[in-house]
Amino acid sequence: MNVPSTPSTPSTPSTPSTPTTPSTPNAWSTPSTRPGATALLSVRDYTVHLHSPRGIVRAVDGVSLTLDRGHTLAIVGESGSGKSVLFRSLLGLLPPAAVARRTGDAFYSGADLSALDEKGLRGLRGRRIGMVFQDPMTALNPVLPVWRQLALPLRRHLGLRRAAARARAVELLDAVGIPDPVRRADQYPVQMSGGMRQRVMIALALSCDPDLIVADEPTTALDVTVQAQILRLLDQLRAERGLGLILISHDLGVVADHSDDVMVMYAGRQAERGPTAAVLGAPRMPYTRTLLDAVPTLHGARGGRLAAITGQPPDLTRTPDACAFAARCTRVRERCHTERPPLTATESGSPQVAACWYPVPSATAPAVASGPVPDPEDPTATATQEASPA
Ligand SMILES: Nc1ncnc2c1ncn2[C@@H]1O[C@H](COP(=O)(O)OP(=O)(O)OP(=O)(O)O)[C@@H](O)[C@H]1O
Ligand code: SF4
Ligand SMILES: [Mg+2]
Repeated sequence: MNVPSTPSTPSTPSTPSTPTTPSTPNAWSTPSTRPGATALLSVRDYTVHLHSPRGIVRAVDGVSLTLDRGHTLAIVGESGSGKSVLFRSLLGLLPPAAVARRTGDAFYSGADLSALDEKGLRGLRGRRIGMVFQDPMTALNPVLPVWRQLALPLRRHLGLRRAAARARAVELLDAVGIPDPVRRADQYPVQMSGGMRQRVMIALALSCDPDLIVADEPTTALDVTVQAQILRLLDQLRAERGLGLILISHDLGVVADHSDDVMVMYAGRQAERGPTAAVLGAPRMPYTRTLLDAVPTLHGARGGRLAAITGQPPDLTRTPDACAFAARCTRVRERCHTERPPLTATESGSPQVAACWYPVPSATAPAVASGPVPDPEDPTATATQEASPA
């Protein structure tokens, strides 16, 4: 596949960056996890509180991450864990009236995102950062032919004239594998299949030759064959163009096959993060372990029965100043209810970090099957809750 490049591809946003004092260093405060790589996106201690009828929702609570060019970072976690709010906030896509508080640092190619006003962020979106939303029917305009939707950012950001924008729109449709792109360019979204509409979304995200694509559940609504095609396309684009890719997904199989690193979110916080093979191969945070145990396999559930996570995530208007997973955790101890665990390297110098006082021992049986564990600080303590099968 050959995606045509745009006339100019500056590596940083045009708005000058403002030197910012880094927040308190934590496990993620290093600029890049790979020596020599330039961080495309760097977020530190990022917090977003939203207004809601129930009170202030702590949708994102102290998240830090780094993404390098040419790499994919997957974001996983239950519904409502803050995955979409995190990236919508970073890209200025939340309704301003909904935001009660936003703190932390966020840098894109070294430029301070918090220094950009709405116009600056709009310039960044579509031009340097492409978004692929879960539901193309709501993201695409139903009353505009697809070529005209593709032409909008080309004309706005690159200044292309109408004919040139149409020609490039057709090239983009071809590049994302839409057959007969000249004819399809004149169609409306409703005349296309779900897979084709998703490809149009990807073409739209690619239209101005971005450095970063944020794909929020890009394949959830698609059948497995189309899903595989879309994921292969994103992988190919990342490899060919050195794109950074944020892949938000519920599907751990997709994450295992298509990401370099993974961040597990729970109740707006980071539960665990590190290289995908390490986190999914040997999870240390009980929540990650339980998510994996809940994945069905072709040969039946691991250990015979599917594990379920008992209980509900906490109410984000009252997230405890302790471990947010404590009410559902099989390894819970007294301390989990009173102190919030910091993100800590699972082994000295390891890029895998977990927020847990009593992590799952490495190379051990699944946490859901392990039952109570002895607390080295309180030998009389017992687990207050054990997982029950589905
Ligand atoms: N505009 C908004 N105003 C108020 N609260 C919001 C708004 N958008 C999201 N929330 C709340 O913020 C929290 C995080 O939501 P978010 O959409 O980020 O979850 P998610 O992890 O993306 O879930 P899903 O997997 O279902 O997409 C939820 O409690 C949600 O109800
Ligand atoms: S062991 Fe404690 S700190 Fe770790 S996840 Fe369970 S409740 Fe949280
Ligand atoms: Mg979401």
